[in-house]
Amino acid sequence: MRTTGMDDQADRDTPGGRPPNPLTRCTLEDLRRRTSAKWRAYDPDVLPLWVAEMDVPVAEPVAEAVQEALRRGDTGYPAGPDEYADALDGFARRRWDWEFPASRTALVPDVMLGVVEMLKLVTSPGDAVVVNAPVYTPFYQFVTHMDRRVVEAPLDAAGRLDPATLESAFTRATGGGRRAAYLLCSPHNPTGTVHTADELAQVAALAGAFGVRVVADEIHAPLVLPGARHVPYLSVPGGETGFSLMSASKAWNLAGLKAALAVAGSGAAEELAALPEEVSHGPSHVGIIAHAAALRHATGWLDSLLAGLADNRALLAELLARHLPEVRCIPGEGTFLAWLDCRGLGLGDDPAAAFLERGRVALNSGPAFGTGGAGHARLNLATSPEILREAVRRMASAV
Ligand SMILES: Cc1ncc(COP(=O)(O)O)c(C=O)c1O
Repeated sequence: MRTTGMDDQADRDTPGGRPPNPLTRCTLEDLRRRTSAKWRAYDPDVLPLWVAEMDVPVAEPVAEAVQEALRRGDTGYPAGPDEYADALDGFARRRWDWEFPASRTALVPDVMLGVVEMLKLVTSPGDAVVVNAPVYTPFYQFVTHMDRRVVEAPLDAAGRLDPATLESAFTRATGGGRRAAYLLCSPHNPTGTVHTADELAQVAALAGAFGVRVVADEIHAPLVLPGARHVPYLSVPGGETGFSLMSASKAWNLAGLKAALAVAGSGAAEELAALPEEVSHGPSHVGIIAHAAALRHATGWLDSLLAGLADNRALLAELLARHLPEVRCIPGEGTFLAWLDCRGLGLGDDPAAAFLERGRVALNSGPAFGTGGAGHARLNLATSPEILREAVRRMASAV
């Protein structure tokens, strides 16, 4: 049954006004005490702006929910998808004017394992999966690991979906009458592109014409800057046969508390119902409690974060103009990532290697994002303005 009243409307973190910008709450000393990948992969003199973790404290309503669960000893197995589905459905109604029934959802351990499971439902080994290069590196890794072929449909020069390129990729992917899927990243990592309703409807029409099944990774959906709007893929005409993977892990920095939700469109519900029961054993029960608390009660925190990210995007543009005017950056409207075209710096295919070696600042290497990645680097904006300033200063010193 759907939760109503308080839970659906409430931001427990807003009664006294909007919480402070979470990006300004952690000192470098605090952050260096962290033991996660971002802070442990490099030597301590390196400033890490690479993997998609954020330099924020946990939102108070999330911390409270987890502490309360620990006090109850509520550390067993998840009871089913309803709790997560209800919290996400409430968030989707308020933010995107879109809703879905819990009956069309399934718990998955995280977004990438959810992507793998959806791809298994609609393709067989040897079939193709279309991706929009440059794209999140694990799209290549997970797809090839499950014995599917990656077919690239590169974004255009403005970082947008290109229907003609997609059509040609769908033609190649379905050659010989094979089944094929399209793994859409919405919003897009690394460019931060927020796809419009028209673009997504075009995608859906094209996929429908070719019989290509769409799996939309919407992990960055809550991370759309003020002024832009995320359009859920399943809400566009023709999107009904698709699947969406969503999670609170990116927007509230909860990757260490594993949980995510797969949602099927009305035309894919039967396939989702065939998902093997054991897939639901992967997500963490405490993770689900944390994610549900974030979606229900920490949207004021999210709004403060989004305002901070908008400021950081503007600051980055200013810093690049001043210190590295040869670097071009498409001003993305979503995610907390910035995709830097460094080809004007003459640092070769992998400018991140030079930034690391000479500037002691860690970004992600562009070539790992596939076609279009050479000469580029991905920078994580989810940090304090001070760290961002220091990072660009270090990058400039490496040139
Ligand atoms: C587009 C995209 N999908 C999936 C993930 C990983 O999500 P998860 O840890 O839930 O698998 C990320 C992490 O940065 C991402 O950017």
